[in-house]
Amino acid sequence: MVKEELAIFDDVEKQAWQLLEKSIIYYQGRPIGTVANYDSSEDASNYDHCFIRDFVSSALLFLSQGRYDIVRNFLEETLKLQPTKNELEAYTPIRGLIPASFKVISTNGKESLEADFGEHAIARVTPVDSCLWWIIILHAYVKATKDINFALQPEFQQGIMLIMELCLATRFDMYPTLLVPDGSCMIHRRLGIYGYPLEIQALFYAALRAARKLLICAGDEEIVIGIDNRLPLLRDHIRHHYWIDINRLNVIYRFKGEEYGQTAVNLFNIYSDSIPYADLAIWLPKYGGYLAGNVGPSQLDTRFFALGNLMAIICSLASEQQSQAIMNLIEEQWQDLVGEMPMKISFPAVEKEEYRIFTGCDPKNIPWSYHNGGSWPVLMWFLAAAAQKTGRTSIAKRAIEIAQERLSDDQWPEYYDGTRGLLIGKKARRYQTWTITGFLLAKELMRNPNHLELISFGEFDLESASQACEL
Ligand code: GLC
Repeated sequence: MVKEELAIFDDVEKQAWQLLEKSIIYYQGRPIGTVANYDSSEDASNYDHCFIRDFVSSALLFLSQGRYDIVRNFLEETLKLQPTKNELEAYTPIRGLIPASFKVISTNGKESLEADFGEHAIARVTPVDSCLWWIIILHAYVKATKDINFALQPEFQQGIMLIMELCLATRFDMYPTLLVPDGSCMIHRRLGIYGYPLEIQALFYAALRAARKLLICAGDEEIVIGIDNRLPLLRDHIRHHYWIDINRLNVIYRFKGEEYGQTAVNLFNIYSDSIPYADLAIWLPKYGGYLAGNVGPSQLDTRFFALGNLMAIICSLASEQQSQAIMNLIEEQWQDLVGEMPMKISFPAVEKEEYRIFTGCDPKNIPWSYHNGGSWPVLMWFLAAAAQKTGRTSIAKRAIEIAQERLSDDQWPEYYDGTRGLLIGKKARRYQTWTITGFLLAKELMRNPNHLELISFGEFDLESASQACEL
């Protein structure tokens, strides 16, 4: 970024922009992504990769500044990594999948890209979120550049179709939600979120919305009909079965069990003894609520997960009223959900026996650390976007002020620990790119609310979905 362009930014932002510039990865002379981290005091592990999910905030930020080339190159190169054939073999990535991350390697002076579909990742976790994020980034790119022809190129249409086929395939269950293993999203390690985690459902909904717009002219009838059928079912399922507020808690608390057949009210056979109803009744403000972390057979995970809830607001998976209620909850339970560093990835932490069972005794996910109740500055941009969408900008301003005080002095850590986020994460790396971009993008969204358009969707209705090629 040139000097005059930096002039509108304060000192912390200027530093952040310079750091972002340093994180850019070049491939055959072209910028194609950003590294997750470049803390030279630490062993790189896979933090020298460009992660698809980590690049989202970089991409939106570059688009907001009119720097389209890096996002275009990223989309083109990652698409080439997507398998287009099914090998029907174990240990090979399935057709349509987008890798979790990639890096540039050089052999005898020749550069190539090496992808990780989970076969190198710690615990060999599957990156389900990558293909969903990929479509969301493509949609943002087309919105920013107004170049629908980019997405209409046959290889891009095929890429979207393969992802849709993968997501819409008939599986071993009949819910409209997506069934995934543990660790398949930002929470990249075991944390008891296998099944139907909210984060994946919100990204799935946003990706379906984006694909519906991008596939509009291609007209593969079966897939488009599949998307149109799935969207309202998924939306209504989440709005009904995942929603928790004091009224709903009262219903759940008095649920009958063992209901069989069509007339059942307690469809998933939830037993209220499995949820902390007494604590929840005190914690829930009168006009506040949120979407549960996970819903499945006899399972209602009442932990609050920030990314899923905020993304549900941004893509209108949550209703207008629910979105306001989620923002009310964040405001009323500020100390728990935002505290001294925006914001908690999940709340509350799982402790004692639950910690041992849910995490497999993972020392990185001890209570109030990392994914298990840690605070992640990257979540700030989701908070700012949700605040803009609901007209609750004072919430975002307050969060940004807190972060502005600390992030640069603390050297942009990956995450913070403790019930209030007062401690720099036990194993956190410094100079984490998405910490830097999460902060910058939050500020950018406050400065120019139009950028929200890149990532948000209004209420879904079939009629407007079928209008020709309109973004
Ligand atoms: C951790 C996070 C994951 C992130 C990666 C790189 O594994 O859990 O969400 O993509 O670090 O920053």
